[in-house]
Amino acid sequence: MRVLGIETSCDETGIALYDSDQGLLGHKLHSQVDLHAVYGGVVPELASRDHVRKTLPLIASLLAETGLSKSDIDGVAYTAGPGLVGALLVGAAIGRTLAWAWQVPAVGVHHMEGHLLAPMLEADSPEFPFVALLVSGGHTQLVEVKGIGQYRLLGESLDDAAGEAFDKTAKMMGLPYPGGPELAALALKGDPKRFHFPRPMTDRPGLDFSFSGLKTFALNTTQREIAENDSAETVLQTKADIARAFEEAVVDTLVIKCRRAVRECGAGTLVLAGGVSANRHLREKMQSAMKKEGARVYYPRTEFCTDNGAMIAYAGWQRLRAGATEPMGFSAKARWPM
Ligand code: KG4
Ligand code: ZN
Repeated sequence: MRVLGIETSCDETGIALYDSDQGLLGHKLHSQVDLHAVYGGVVPELASRDHVRKTLPLIASLLAETGLSKSDIDGVAYTAGPGLVGALLVGAAIGRTLAWAWQVPAVGVHHMEGHLLAPMLEADSPEFPFVALLVSGGHTQLVEVKGIGQYRLLGESLDDAAGEAFDKTAKMMGLPYPGGPELAALALKGDPKRFHFPRPMTDRPGLDFSFSGLKTFALNTTQREIAENDSAETVLQTKADIARAFEEAVVDTLVIKCRRAVRECGAGTLVLAGGVSANRHLREKMQSAMKKEGARVYYPRTEFCTDNGAMIAYAGWQRLRAGATEPMGFSAKARWPM
């Protein structure tokens, strides 16, 4: 079975073709970073309009590149939520219409299920059951996964998602958009010992998170430590040290809760997914912590940590082969529990 995947939930247009026998046949990604950079964040109206411009041309070029035609496609999967409704509607309308024209089934995929299953696109992929840490710009969730569609929420962020905390802290520090990866890059030059930030909610039982206080902690540290007459070099080093302290706090907090979750579930496998799983320090610290727990860590290749069409094609294939079908209408949900 060959499935076309379409991702348009936020600021990336992602298209992919997944084949149940051969694996991923190809994928295309258009990032809108340049479009939104001047505004310092995603402008929903501009995002939708850009998906309108890019989705069909990307599908056409992927089909041409893989030498496939419409008769080779057995199903279409599109992201149905959660995300920006206008952006989602573009992928949903195009996906549903193509499926109707091609006389194949369509399925609306949950964006976070896409992230969750992304590590399965790798040759060395995790086996069920496992515990998953989903860390993106919109979500921070710990989930016990027993199989496709068998998800039990263990804990989640009560305020900002981890990626959102990275983005907001980066913006406050005057770093360019998109903030998360910029802050992580700056943190690589920082001294982890100069500042110590709290590890929120680790002093009490449970698997929920809270990251919004770290942003305020970073703001207060910035105001206290950076003086007007500091040289540009000193300011940069202080910012790098603050970025590192912030990153260490987020990473340690995530690691502490993952250890708890793995112990509670008796799991031997931990899956990291979502944009923040691209973070180098998170991967390194999680690996060494899980080694002590006797658990293995799996994560997607870096380009499939952030939004992409491959994860939607794969999750869509899993859903379609389990018999999921959709009526003629299509759905786009801003909020949608997994
Ligand atoms: O999964 P994703 O592409 O989109 C959502 O579904 O939200 O995740 C994007 C998030 C952003 O908040 C971004 O700042 C964060 O992932 N991110 C990172 C890194 N790369 C992306 N955060 C920390 N370190 C990184 N290297
Ligand atoms: Zn995402």
